[in-house]
Amino acid sequence: MKGIVLAGGAGTRLYPTTKIYSKQLSLIYDKPLIYYPVSLLMLGGVKEVLIISNEETIPLYKKLFEDGSQIGMKFEYVVQDAPNGIAEAFILGEDFIGDDSATLVLGDNIFYGKLDFLYNALENHQSGGTIFAYQVTDPQRYGIVEFDKTGKAISIEEKPSNPKSEFAVPGLYVYDNEVIEISKNLKPSARGELEITDVNKVYLEREELKVQKIGRGVAWLDTGTPEALLQASQFFGVIEDRQGLKVACLEEIALKKGFISLEQYEELLKTIPNSLYKDYLLRVLKEEK
Ligand code: G1P
Repeated sequence: MKGIVLAGGAGTRLYPTTKIYSKQLSLIYDKPLIYYPVSLLMLGGVKEVLIISNEETIPLYKKLFEDGSQIGMKFEYVVQDAPNGIAEAFILGEDFIGDDSATLVLGDNIFYGKLDFLYNALENHQSGGTIFAYQVTDPQRYGIVEFDKTGKAISIEEKPSNPKSEFAVPGLYVYDNEVIEISKNLKPSARGELEITDVNKVYLEREELKVQKIGRGVAWLDTGTPEALLQASQFFGVIEDRQGLKVACLEEIALKKGFISLEQYEELLKTIPNSLYKDYLLRVLKEEK
């Protein structure tokens, strides 16, 4: 399984900050937003990740993650020239994906809670596509899935003005290798984008789409507006301070998943400046020893 993080987009709703850097680098409590979706891939056992962003921002991601080897990962980078749609990620990522399956996560989507079902979907993916459905109060803003009485998905629409359900499709998509061909055959939508919803429609028509409902107890947070960023920061601030455990701490995950050895972790710590973040990593080290 290969992972792709799409971290592009104009982020106009966060102007003026997004004049300088992309939204996925915004601080969510104590770390950049993109750490959260990257942590999801790592916890799902994905070690090879392609980061897609615009030309100005790619150097910043390279600075942040380097080649990934310090945390037992392999990061690659590709430029998306214009916001041509989510599905373009599979065309830009063709060489990177090779003959493998691919999980795409949007760089501004945050999931929190008991996520074993997500990690399983990544670890045990066989064929076809797997997407998720999450109940929301503002369905006009998302891709929306309609289910029949038996719970089978029967339609998917992108940002419908009259939504057929309240179940939105979050930005986490798991596909087999077919996704490359499917994406190449898409036509741009009215907003000029290669829509991920159109990819899902192809899998649905082929009866190869699994739509898993996400129940209560899991948070899927949106980070598109200043209020949403503040809410997400407060949410993780409360949780981290209460438990003294960090969420989406990539170094800790790398160690606990066995991506790096304890020795490599200790070496890595030497490169990290004194900070509250480092204090936490040292505490993890002490507990692991
Ligand atoms: C995109 C997708 C939409 C999905 C959403 C999740 O919307 O097109 O289907 O529900 O991400 O965040 P966009 O970010 O393009 O508005």
